[in-house]
Amino acid sequence: PIPVVLDVDTGVDDALALLLAVRHPALELLAISCAGGNVPIAQVVENTRRVLDLAGAPPVPIAAGMHRPLVETPQDASYVHGATGLGALELPPSGREVEPVHAVELLRRTLLAASEPVTVIALAPLTNVAVLLRMHPEVLPRIARIVMMGGAVGAGNATAAAEFNVWHDPEAAEIVLTSGVPVVMYGLEPFYRATVPAERIAQLGRSADPVARAAGSLLAHLAGVTEDEGRVDGAGAAAIGDAGTVAAVIDPTLLQLRRAPVRVALAEGPTRGCTVVDLRSGLGAGGEATKDAESHVEVVLDLDGARCAELFLAAVDAGAAV
Ligand code: BDR
Ligand code: CA
Repeated sequence: PIPVVLDVDTGVDDALALLLAVRHPALELLAISCAGGNVPIAQVVENTRRVLDLAGAPPVPIAAGMHRPLVETPQDASYVHGATGLGALELPPSGREVEPVHAVELLRRTLLAASEPVTVIALAPLTNVAVLLRMHPEVLPRIARIVMMGGAVGAGNATAAAEFNVWHDPEAAEIVLTSGVPVVMYGLEPFYRATVPAERIAQLGRSADPVARAAGSLLAHLAGVTEDEGRVDGAGAAAIGDAGTVAAVIDPTLLQLRRAPVRVALAEGPTRGCTVVDLRSGLGAGGEATKDAESHVEVVLDLDGARCAELFLAAVDAGAAV
């Protein structure tokens, strides 16, 4: 299996991602770090523990991390994820332990102890990951790559220009994208591409398997939101969002990638948090080299959405084979 750590701000689609990561045999989940984002940090930790119980996860170290962005004022995303962060899904309290260390320290220890370089799957604002890179440069060679859900080549979602995770902590995203560590930027283009149609969501909701039923509830919540956003095809369909980022680690053949430098717009104003992806090849308009071949960042331009959604459904619906 591929050794991974997950950084989450659980979150309806982070919950879908956790279900996939726990249930899919291709991944070895070494640790989970929590960051403030969709909901406040205490709620993120609580949601994460409950979703892990639901998924039947073995004990896996979990820790609470950065409660707010480096510079930005924290922003609430309950308009997308509901008051608790899990839409209408209600889960029983968890007895699962939380490590008595900061999530950045948990990540450091986990990366240094692993027998091979680890893939960091970042599904939240990048505050924890940025602090890790800045505080503990000794972990850099222990990171196989950072696969981050964040940014966009085109339109944003939090604002016209910016995707939520990058908009929430633009400075952290800039640190990660310019760190020199290999990064895969899974932005809004693939994010909205892997979708589950309305009939399949309803079918999940009727399943005897509690994990499938929970996935149905989470997707039904997202269907309402994404319909408002107008980014997903098909009435009542939902994008699996963050879960697609986990699927991309399990099966990289789902992705169409392009190596390109990416910077984050940091100035105040309408472009703050926008990921500026330099897709020019060779010489730029001004005659300068764009250095795309040397970039440490690969941007996901497109995704096989149907296969990605199938991978997800096969793992979370016990009726189907993985
Ligand atoms: C991202 O922001 C959050 O709302 C989702 O969980 C996802 O990580 C999408 O912009
Ligand atoms: Ca998220």
